[in-house]
Amino acid sequence: MNEPSTRRTGAVALVAVLAIGATAVAADKKKKDYRAAAVEVMKASFQSKGQASVDRLNQDEVQTTCSQYNASKPVPRALAKKLQEAQLATIQYPADGKFLGSWENGEKIAQTGVGKQFSDDPSKPAGGNCYACHQLSAKELSYGTIGPTLYQYGRLRGNSEPILKYTWGKLWNSQAFNACSDMPRFGHQGILTEEQLKDVMALLLDPESPVNK
Ligand code: HEC
Repeated sequence: MNEPSTRRTGAVALVAVLAIGATAVAADKKKKDYRAAAVEVMKASFQSKGQASVDRLNQDEVQTTCSQYNASKPVPRALAKKLQEAQLATIQYPADGKFLGSWENGEKIAQTGVGKQFSDDPSKPAGGNCYACHQLSAKELSYGTIGPTLYQYGRLRGNSEPILKYTWGKLWNSQAFNACSDMPRFGHQGILTEEQLKDVMALLLDPESPVNK
């Protein structure tokens, strides 16, 4: 007596599963449409002004790929390796082979968040805004913690050739070492000049820098 009703329940359950499956596919499709629609809305509602142009909304390959992943859905290892290799190839080392400038200037660059906005004068140098994400000098009490502390950076690592090259590379293009890094690609995106990068390098690595005191 029970059997047909069990079968019916089974059939109803199967239909329900199929229906949920179909809804999930539809929702997924909708989500993708929303993403494209959001970009279109942004392109239509923002205007280029001075150096802040809407072409910044056009993502390059690594940005497009990283947008599909997040902390709970990390980029697969093999793909991360491929992305990092491509970013690594973009790094330009200092033309004169000298990595370190003035840490005093580097501290000013690390403190400054000005630059690249429509209201900023593009003929003036941009800042690195390092303190927004990192602790550097122990004297500065106000800093963000998105990135690790860089206090004692040079003291702990020394300034051998591999350390100089890694640190320069990280500043030039952070995604060469961490595919979907949140740190700006200072050299690659032309945020800091070669001279400014040397000054920030000195802030990190010069034994006289407050970072290493
Ligand atoms: C928007 C946040 C952000 C800003 C701004 C930022 N960083 Fe970072 N940085 C990070 C994060 C997050 C990490 C760690 C994850 C990673 O490696 O990408 C990091 C890692 C680093 C590392 C590697 C540390 C190690 O032990 O290997 C260095 C060096 C560094 N940052 C220097 C700087 C300097 C110098 C500036 C300013 C010119 C700066 N960062 C600006 C977020 C930021």
